[in-house]
Amino acid sequence: MDVIRIEGGHHVSGVVKVEGAKNSALKLMAATILAPGVNTLTNVPNIADVHVMGKVLKRLGAQIEVVDEHTLSIDTSTVTSWVTPYQLVAQMRASTAVLGPLLGRFGKATVAMPGGCNIGARKIDMHILGLQALGVEFDLDHGDINATAPRGLRGDTVTLDFASVGATENLMMASVRAKGVTTIYNAAREPEIVDLANLLNEMGAKIGGAGSPVIEIEGVDELHPVTHEVVGDRIEAGTFIAMAGITGDPVEVRGFEPIHLGLVLRKYEQMGITIERERRAVRVWREGPLSSVDIQTLPFPGFPTDMQAQTMCLLALGSGSCIVTENVFENRFMFASELQRMGADIRIEGHHAIVHGVSGFSGAEVKSPDLRGGAALVMAGLVADGTTVVSDIYHIDRGYERFVEKLQALGAHVERTSVPDANVL
Ligand code: UD1
Repeated sequence: MDVIRIEGGHHVSGVVKVEGAKNSALKLMAATILAPGVNTLTNVPNIADVHVMGKVLKRLGAQIEVVDEHTLSIDTSTVTSWVTPYQLVAQMRASTAVLGPLLGRFGKATVAMPGGCNIGARKIDMHILGLQALGVEFDLDHGDINATAPRGLRGDTVTLDFASVGATENLMMASVRAKGVTTIYNAAREPEIVDLANLLNEMGAKIGGAGSPVIEIEGVDELHPVTHEVVGDRIEAGTFIAMAGITGDPVEVRGFEPIHLGLVLRKYEQMGITIERERRAVRVWREGPLSSVDIQTLPFPGFPTDMQAQTMCLLALGSGSCIVTENVFENRFMFASELQRMGADIRIEGHHAIVHGVSGFSGAEVKSPDLRGGAALVMAGLVADGTTVVSDIYHIDRGYERFVEKLQALGAHVERTSVPDANVL
């Protein structure tokens, strides 16, 4: 079992460059199914989730060439299958992003129903309801969702109950090949949605309004392959910004659009962190104490749920008390109980966490509960007294490329080691 071992109390400084966004790259890869031929994606992060999406596409018949570490050439002219089995969907829920593109290309798709996962139920009912409006019929067969559009896909109006990222994406990817116009109301507005719409438009789709709550898609007869650069990862950037904020040390974070972290940066400034915005970069440091501010997660442009754990880590060292409210996912506070093992004072009441600032963390053996929670625990370890050992780091590998190496380059005393299961420390 691999663990990350952190020796707290050492300074970090320097420049860190973030990769392309995980949450964009996965959907762009799925979208290549819609454009038979050789598509090239650049700035693709080299992370475990991308490898799983690669397996999904290969299973469908695509041929993938790794041109260089961050460039994938994906030939989807050879895709002949529309079946995505449970072994792959169970490894990564985002595998369900192939549902829309397969329906768009073949008018049918079989995708295993995703199970629950450790940040909540994460249902796909909104994907299904939206696609039904476009003429898709569904049946659940031994754990697989069989989707077919017997009379073809036809544009319609869809209003989502909640601005779901995944449902908006699946609907966009199916409706680009529908007859007529599809309008999605209450659409998700995340920068990754805009990146996907840009890719599809480059392929020849006619999508307007991406980035606003109303997206209009006029169906077209065919899409052609393209070369596209994945947008920078705002959440990886936010994680390093939070890291600079907790240590106080000066760090420059490059390779993303600061506007994509608008509210996060504003909240961090309220906490006493200095942030200088540049073109595709920020410089971050802190001189005074960390102030406590309330935050609540919401769909973009609200505070991202994917930054909740890293931010709670900062607030746990705040000079007062505050409330963190999680509105997007149920069960996303598991990280808090691990942080309590390091001395944090956090009480969970439903979807609220009441955080009373403490003067410091003490190094401990902790378990990464999920992707962002795992990164946040490493962050806590940087300022903890003594040694922290974070296990279950496969969660971190899902979404952060060379996380330990990037921290080492900033001067952190952190290493990845293998230990026998029963003896972590
Ligand atoms: C995506 C991101 C994830 C991010 C989340 C919210 C990827 C691979 N993952 O996840 O990192 O935290 O957006 O910004 O891009 N829901 C339903 N029914 C549905 C769809 C969603 O009830 O049909 C619920 C979910 O359980 C969750 C909430 O809606 O509570 C938000 O989900 P959604 O926005 O769809 O997130 P994902 O696309 O799964």
